[in-house]
Amino acid sequence: MRSVYMDNGATSYPKAPGVGEAMADYIVNVGCNIGRGGYQSAYDAASLALDTRDQLCRLVSGPGPRNVIFTPGATYGLNILLKGLLKPGDRVLTSPMEHNAVLRPLTQLQAQGVQVDFFPCNDRGELLLSQAEALITPQVRAVILTHASNVCGTVMPVQAVGRLCRERGVLFLVDAAQTAGVLPIDMKAMGIDAVAFPGHKGLLGPQGIGALVLTDALAAQIDPLVAGGTGSVSHELDMPSFLPDRFEPGTLNLPGIYGLHAALAFLEAQGEELRAKERALARRLWTRLRELEGDGLRVTGAEDPDRRTGVVSVDFLQGDNGEMAFRLEQGYGIATRCGLHCAPAAHQTLNTYPQGTVRFSVGPFLSAEDVDYVHGAVEALLREGR
Ligand SMILES: Cc1ncc(COP(=O)(O)O)c(C=O)c1O
Repeated sequence: MRSVYMDNGATSYPKAPGVGEAMADYIVNVGCNIGRGGYQSAYDAASLALDTRDQLCRLVSGPGPRNVIFTPGATYGLNILLKGLLKPGDRVLTSPMEHNAVLRPLTQLQAQGVQVDFFPCNDRGELLLSQAEALITPQVRAVILTHASNVCGTVMPVQAVGRLCRERGVLFLVDAAQTAGVLPIDMKAMGIDAVAFPGHKGLLGPQGIGALVLTDALAAQIDPLVAGGTGSVSHELDMPSFLPDRFEPGTLNLPGIYGLHAALAFLEAQGEELRAKERALARRLWTRLRELEGDGLRVTGAEDPDRRTGVVSVDFLQGDNGEMAFRLEQGYGIATRCGLHCAPAAHQTLNTYPQGTVRFSVGPFLSAEDVDYVHGAVEALLREGR
């Protein structure tokens, strides 16, 4: 049976060529820590880590390589931001399309007296910008917004929200878990003060390594969530005031950094071509599944293909979504994800709560034939279900 991995929204597979080899190279041939030892291999590893910060800074047009903080993933970066910044009495705006990596820290903060308000979205997961505009007032401390929904693939109007935030002196934080490496991100042009993302999704790197990129002005307002050794200013008991050390206590995930470095080098070498291929696959998947819409199937998310990522979530109207995902895997070798995708409010917005959806998500290594195979399998399931 054919095997088609359609769960790239959860994590990319396969990884970029060279990722596994780079990680093994670190473990087998390097192995040392950085920022602590004064010997050649430690300097070489530090130089690679710095090079990776440069790559990540270029990726998001960040303020500089020092402003790139290595994290275990988007979740950690978002927690560093939200919990370090927001204090009782602060007001924060977000959207109902957020992942629990945003909603759960905000719920914890709410219990401590932070006021959390939501932008309105329609049932396609699109932010209603004209109504949102009125909510972004100078009294708001920060806006935190996902760049694209992990549930339905709808892309948020990040640039427009960033402009409003800048005009009104409001901090703008972006969860780019679904878009880093997939869509252009330009912190300066989009008015973004901080962006958090993992290395294991669109960047085609390994799990356990990601980045938070933030401006100096924002960093100065954030208390470190975790404190510990940094290999710098060790005589001081306070965390260093400078970046990246302020937010990087403890030994870094160096195998992960080696792997991510290789992935980013691959992406840079491929240029726009690989992403154009992924966009074409995304559009094909969405178009083909939409051909099947009717009594048996609803496709969620934005109706403008230019405002969508490669995530396409469907609701099987005459069957249980969990069972359909099982049958896709067992009968056709198609790996999807079903359920609420850690974003319950997004499903309430899309009217797919509590049943959730079956989520298909493309990656750049799939082919048009893979997408057509998925279309055929869904069509067959719908036929069998009648
Ligand atoms: C929109 C969004 N935000 C945050 C996360 C969390 O990312 P990670 O698990 O890498 O920390 C995910 C992962 O699924 C996501 O899709």
